[in-house]
Amino acid sequence: MAIITLKWHVLRPLLIFLFLLLCCLYYIYHAYRPPTDLYREIFNSEVELSKNLIHNERGHKYVKFKQLRGAGFNNQAQDILLYHHLALQTSRIYVYQPFIWRPRGEKAEVPLSAFLRGPTEGTISDAVFDEVCPPEEVIHVRLQVDHLKQWKHALDILNGKDRCIVVDDWIFNWLFLASPGLHTVWPTFQKYLSTHFKWSDNVLTIVNRTQTELNLRPASAPATEQGDAYMALHLRRGDFEEHCKYLLETRQGFTTWGTLPILQSSVLPPKLDISNTTTIMDQCYPSLYRILDSISKQARDRPHLRTLHVLHDGAWDHPTVYLQYYKLAGALKDPEWARRAGWKGGPMLRVTHSAEVPIHRGERDWSVCVDVELGRRTEVFIGNGYSSLTTQVVALRLSDEGGKVEDITLY
Ligand SMILES: *[C@@H]1O[C@H](CO)[C@@H](O)[C@H](O)[C@H]1NC(C)=O
Ligand SMILES: *[C@@H]1O[C@H](CO)[C@@H](O)[C@H](O)[C@H]1NC(C)=O
Repeated sequence: MAIITLKWHVLRPLLIFLFLLLCCLYYIYHAYRPPTDLYREIFNSEVELSKNLIHNERGHKYVKFKQLRGAGFNNQAQDILLYHHLALQTSRIYVYQPFIWRPRGEKAEVPLSAFLRGPTEGTISDAVFDEVCPPEEVIHVRLQVDHLKQWKHALDILNGKDRCIVVDDWIFNWLFLASPGLHTVWPTFQKYLSTHFKWSDNVLTIVNRTQTELNLRPASAPATEQGDAYMALHLRRGDFEEHCKYLLETRQGFTTWGTLPILQSSVLPPKLDISNTTTIMDQCYPSLYRILDSISKQARDRPHLRTLHVLHDGAWDHPTVYLQYYKLAGALKDPEWARRAGWKGGPMLRVTHSAEVPIHRGERDWSVCVDVELGRRTEVFIGNGYSSLTTQVVALRLSDEGGKVEDITLY
């Protein structure tokens, strides 16, 4: 009897621990499991809609591009939006391809229309391309030229008569995206975003729910509407410590729209100077002091903004991001700190963050889009010029009615 009791004493905590561990794993498995059935349905409806389009339209011209496969969500989104814009500019139907969901492997495809509606409306899925453009009718071209001439050259060739064109080289590659060649695209791209950029309903449903549950009011809504006016901070940490070291060694500047000349007044001094590695690290992986300074710069003269939402990449594999978030939130809510920083309206009353976004089971893949949209809808946005999420938010803000560079700070 004594032996059994002893064993039970040892066993019980162990069993409880194993039980809790299983519960935990079960929870993670379910929370991160993609909505496979829904994705299959969406893929099928993409094919159906594309077939309707090719059977009902005559005289159309098509273009399919070699696109980025892999990298982050916003890297792919920026690439896709540029290609869709180019197709529209040359009166061609854009042949869209699925997103690659990198966290689940380089072959994990998710349907584009589950995320972005713009490039999947009035366009066709790659799955039906062969039907409308059999291989023998396809003209293959390579379009890469000098960055400054790239956009014009692509327009010239795609404006040609050939009905089916496949572009075999990756024209909007990293080097092009970091070059002033991209700036020649901005005037028309800005208009493109304001008319063709649309999230899927899956994304908008979560954004609406988040605004209600976190009590955040978009800048475009009248002040009588429910919720607090807020500013957003994009805290890009996670894998960025390593990434920034690489950017430093290769002496790189901001990414895509972060390089726009109109935005340079938004950069917190000292300005980025790629010949000075200190400034690269300061902008790419800034100290918490520098981040607080950039929030202060905006908050000081806006006493009505007392709520901050932090977009961050904290996760089980990057737990220290939470620590940094809590340090920032602590300072921002401290009356003494706000007084010393010269804030007229007192400290932040509320600080919310990505982990509080009400994501239901099977919705995890959309959370990155929700972050982008929450950053877009704020009165003030503070971000990282090296991040594609930040630069995507910035491009969307500047193409929205009333979007101003003064309401953006890049730390
Ligand atoms: C989100 O909210 C807006 C404004 O209340 C509403 O017009 C829209 O239909 C909602 N969208 C979805 C997908 O729920
Ligand atoms: C590099 O930038 C830092 C920070 O602005 C500055 O203190 C330093 O003097 C600069 N170094 C050089 C060599 O310009």
